[in-house]
Amino acid sequence: NWTMKSFSEGAIAQIKDAVGDKKVIMGLSGGVDSSVAATLIHKAVGKNLHCIFVDNGLLRLNEKEQLEVSLRANLNMNIKFVDAQEKFLTALAGVTDPEKKRKIIGKLFIDVFEAEAKKVDGAQFLGQGTLYPDIIESKSAFGGPTSVIKSHHNVGGLPEQMNLKLIEPLQLLFKDEVRKLGLELGINEDLVWRQPFPGPGLAIRILGEITKDRLDILRRADDILIQEIKQAGLYRKLWQSFTVLLPVKSVGVMGDKRTFANCVAIRAVTSNDAMTADWAKLPHDLLGKISNRIINEVDKVNRVVFDITSKPPGTIEWE
Ligand code: XMP
Repeated sequence: NWTMKSFSEGAIAQIKDAVGDKKVIMGLSGGVDSSVAATLIHKAVGKNLHCIFVDNGLLRLNEKEQLEVSLRANLNMNIKFVDAQEKFLTALAGVTDPEKKRKIIGKLFIDVFEAEAKKVDGAQFLGQGTLYPDIIESKSAFGGPTSVIKSHHNVGGLPEQMNLKLIEPLQLLFKDEVRKLGLELGINEDLVWRQPFPGPGLAIRILGEITKDRLDILRRADDILIQEIKQAGLYRKLWQSFTVLLPVKSVGVMGDKRTFANCVAIRAVTSNDAMTADWAKLPHDLLGKISNRIINEVDKVNRVVFDITSKPPGTIEWE
């Protein structure tokens, strides 16, 4: 696509011009936006880009491994992986309120990221994968910055505190354009086509208290769902598809034994921009297969339900 080719050449030249031989710090989330932004910056400044990936323990299966292959091995990027799993789990222990979870995660992320960023001597720039809709949404969504339905977090506040200048090479692009650009830059398709994943991660998909045990249950259920959605050829057609672990136990029967175990909800939506969304009419056969696999393969789950709520009145996430 020549448009994306000329866009990327222009952007790389601009970044080179702005940054010179100074260092850029950038947080990677594992998602498309930060990966594409980082790749673009990397093409401009090479080893002067210092990426930081914080493992908060709230990630999906293989998220970190995928970045290791796609960006570090394939594109030779400089990435520091920080294991902060224990820190996040400790800070979240006993917390059930969704907004409290977000605040704790957002704040801790900034602490961990900042401590790592400070180790990069003399850095003057902060790269971010901000897209055009992010700017619109944070300025005007739901009637202005004071009326917040869910407090989305990024590394806001950090540039001022650390005196860093922002580099946001995607700020004029929409998601579909970012994907095209990612392919143009040679990022592998698995990463480029990733569905959006919220900053607070699985923490807002476990209703109630977050524990290591519950995270493991959800991670495995989620992995099965994604495998099946991909195999059915639906992954790219859905805006998001994921599982939610409910704070409910129900009675079941497996073999000739009574069970009393967890319930997992399947959430799948189509959307253009996440502001509104329709629940996806997944084929019944597919739902049946996902349900069977989750119950058979994931210990401590004996029931699967399907969410048929659109946005509005529901939100996409359950918290
Ligand atoms: P809702 O649930 O509000 O979500 O319909 C709309 C989109 O935003 C994502 N989302 C978040 N992303 N931090 C994020 O970075 C958050 O706290 C957060 N909450 C929701 C959600 O996955 C969907 O794509």
